Amino acid sequence: MITSVVPGDPPRPAQVPGPSAAAPAERELPAEQPASGAPDALWWRDAVIYQVYVRSFQDSNGDGIGDLPGVRARLPYLKRLGVDGVWLNPFYPSPQHDHGYDVADYKGVDPMFGTLEDFDLLVEDCRKLGLRLVLDTVPNHCSTEHPWFQDALLAAPGSTERARFHFADGRGTDGELPPNNWRAMFGGPAWSRITEPDGTAGQWYLHMFTPEQPDLNWRNPEVPAEFEKVLRFWLDRGVDGFRIDVAAGLFKHPELPDSPDPEADERTRDSVNPLAWNQPEVHDIWRAWRAICEEYTQLDGRQRLLVGEASVPTPAEQAKYVRADELHQAFFFHLLHAPWDSEHFHQVIDAAVRDITATGSTVTWVLNNHDQVRTTTRFGSPERARAAALLMLALPGAAYLYQGEELGLPEVDDLPDDVITDPIFFRTGSRKGIRDGCRVPLPWSGTEAPFGFSPDDSAPSWLPQPPSFADHTAERALTDHTSPYHLYREALHLRRLLPQLGEGTLRWLETPPNVLAFTRGDGLLVATNFGTTPAPAPVTGTPLLSSAPCPPGTLPPATTAWWIQPRM
Ligand code: GLC
Ligand code: CA
Repeated sequence: MITSVVPGDPPRPAQVPGPSAAAPAERELPAEQPASGAPDALWWRDAVIYQVYVRSFQDSNGDGIGDLPGVRARLPYLKRLGVDGVWLNPFYPSPQHDHGYDVADYKGVDPMFGTLEDFDLLVEDCRKLGLRLVLDTVPNHCSTEHPWFQDALLAAPGSTERARFHFADGRGTDGELPPNNWRAMFGGPAWSRITEPDGTAGQWYLHMFTPEQPDLNWRNPEVPAEFEKVLRFWLDRGVDGFRIDVAAGLFKHPELPDSPDPEADERTRDSVNPLAWNQPEVHDIWRAWRAICEEYTQLDGRQRLLVGEASVPTPAEQAKYVRADELHQAFFFHLLHAPWDSEHFHQVIDAAVRDITATGSTVTWVLNNHDQVRTTTRFGSPERARAAALLMLALPGAAYLYQGEELGLPEVDDLPDDVITDPIFFRTGSRKGIRDGCRVPLPWSGTEAPFGFSPDDSAPSWLPQPPSFADHTAERALTDHTSPYHLYREALHLRRLLPQLGEGTLRWLETPPNVLAFTRGDGLLVATNFGTTPAPAPVTGTPLLSSAPCPPGTLPPATTAWWIQPRM
């Protein structure tokens, strides 16, 4: 986590709003020391990575859709915020049925987002600014427009082309019933029937998400071999690692038997069908990918990162994904799923620290991402969201932030039906679990839409921004020292300055009900009041940092504070 001095801002594409959108008066922070935490080679162990949902971050060419030149133009903002790196959601060529998680070409850039040259310039700028760059990779499924699937449609049952996917004959007298009873994550059956080239009703193929996302057959050696090439393609272009989509997927039970409880599979978006997820063979793939990363480390000493989206039932099960020769990290979603409740937070933090650190890895904390209701709305107030963030940033390990959480953005939950794009909406006919509300384009500046998201006179942003976004622009946040932006910035800065905030120990303290308190290393004390009435502060003195003003001796409701404990 050693920070280099920020060189001059990289050149901006002419159309992107100028520095006024992200400039003035920030409170002076003390000069940065060399990083206190992990050595540079092990940078990921306590890194804070900022997730950029490319289509909603910054539009550079006025089509109302964010793009890679837009990301590039805003890197100085991220550098100033103090994150260690950036994870980009998929920008590969895709028909966008699931916003890029339906990949038609794993080695390209969708023209909607720019060009490979734009990508290379982005790598260069990240390098200059000392920001790590992490890409999203989607190995469980591709797009029906991927050439492999198109070839499979034209080929015969039993062909090598079909063997890259899960094609099977249907059940029933005429094959009119799906091969098994599995349900797809986004609603409906997990199988769709194709029409054979001769026009007859044909075989079925498996898709654990939408029908436009056919699952790849990882038992066919061609599949892992192709993905190794994909990884090397991007590693050779200079990326620092990959976020792995659906990392508990890939392998299915070899016989594809019926699920004992398809209803249960349908009731939740979590991966529950034990025949479709979390098969033991997937760990061999992560070992192979880790070995590729190590090869690149051999060349320059820099560790490449693999961070998995492995939704598995327990922290202990998750720990298997981050064994020393597998993934470096796996998102710890149990914190993200925790309600605003001190006991619940206590339990999940405890289990994570115990089970994950036992593997030699560090916990990868996350409260927001592009699939979840934003914390401001989920926890019921901006104060709670701020308190939760400051608590998370005091925990041992790495953390991921999702764009806009530093601006205190709420979920936009009143988007009209006719602008919703999430396939969950179309597959289930319900707004339950839909994800558009956390994907509304960021407000950067000004008082009216598009709030600096697009150049003047552009097409409307792909999802409409509500007028209330005027209160959340980056421009406003930068000049208001009480904004969440400044809280995040100061917390990130202190993570660099204080060795206690690295990956070391966490020790719980006795507390009154609804309060959590712990020490980190020597002398740093952290407390959160989850209650609705003020609690006594666990220590006298002014906090080093707090998510809301703390009168002396008091920890107000929905507040987290950090103190340096006076030595006895
Ligand atoms: C992951 C992604 C989500 C996507 C799904 C299918 O859960 O985070 O956005 O829809 O995988 O690829
Ligand atoms: Ca654009």
